[in-house]
Amino acid sequence: MHREDPHRRLREAVGSVIEQAGADSSLLEALPKRWEKFADVALLQRGAFSGSEWEALAGEALWGAVADALKVERVGRIGEIVGERRESSVELLLGEDDFVVRRENGVDYGYRFTQCMFSAGNVNERRRMGEVGRAGETVVDLFCGIGYYTLPMLVHSQVEHVHSCEWNPNAIEALKWGLEHNGVSDKCTIHTGDNRITAQELTTIADRIVLGLLPTAEGGYDLAVNCLKESGGILHIHGVAPASDHDSWVEETIQKFEKLAPQFSITEAARVRIKSYAPHWDHLVLDLELRPRA
Ligand SMILES: C[S@@+](CC[C@H](N)C(=O)[O-])C[C@H]1O[C@@H](n2cnc3c(N)ncnc32)[C@H](O)[C@@H]1O
Repeated sequence: MHREDPHRRLREAVGSVIEQAGADSSLLEALPKRWEKFADVALLQRGAFSGSEWEALAGEALWGAVADALKVERVGRIGEIVGERRESSVELLLGEDDFVVRRENGVDYGYRFTQCMFSAGNVNERRRMGEVGRAGETVVDLFCGIGYYTLPMLVHSQVEHVHSCEWNPNAIEALKWGLEHNGVSDKCTIHTGDNRITAQELTTIADRIVLGLLPTAEGGYDLAVNCLKESGGILHIHGVAPASDHDSWVEETIQKFEKLAPQFSITEAARVRIKSYAPHWDHLVLDLELRPRA
């Protein structure tokens, strides 16, 4: 039975590395309890096997033992998500290259996992974005990243075209790979750079806009209103709200759009709790429908 238990395997594998090195077996009490596994990769959490006590052991033998125990070929360790460009800093501990392909809901995402983030917790929202698009629609994805929402929308719905905005070159490289590999390049235009500049050229073209930035996408609110067709459309607004009181964030957000877009009547089409963002805080998405006032 215990051969199936990765924690047990990890303890045994790291235990023999510690023994061979003559190190202190109490280190086994500091083994990571959680990690993310996808394709042939295991991503250890920030701080795993870190600190002076592990320094002497860190190396091929230890990372090889971890890989065997977790049944993967490559091992990385999550660092900070840093800077305005929300770049994930993952350290590659074992393996030559950091390019990985993740297949999810019939969509292939290809990206360098030391350069770009991929939030496993957003899986349902990625699926939903594959379902909401309507035939003939023009969509603007203001913070598209590697194509978390752009790709499922193009692969699974009949939308006409998606304009995807991104300023992180690593994310753009991954998006191009995704569009190519999912056979949807002809239905997407990538706008490279700061969307506060690039989205200016997308005036009154969109039926639907995705504002997928955390903890707030407020920097894109006026851009979104500018991109919306005069006939209006749907906004998918991501944000963070108190877990005990989603209403206040929803009302605040609607009021902000009422100020920004007096020409539209605004109705709440849906709100979805995506995941816990931090203790007592939830990652929400609010769907607002904006239609010309009668
Ligand atoms: C982290 S992704 C969003 C992830 C995705 N929405 C999700 O929830 O899975 C946000 C992306 O927006 C990009 N970004 C942030 N501000 C931007 C701006 N002003 N112009 C263009 N891209 C921007 C970041 O580089 C990042 O790739």
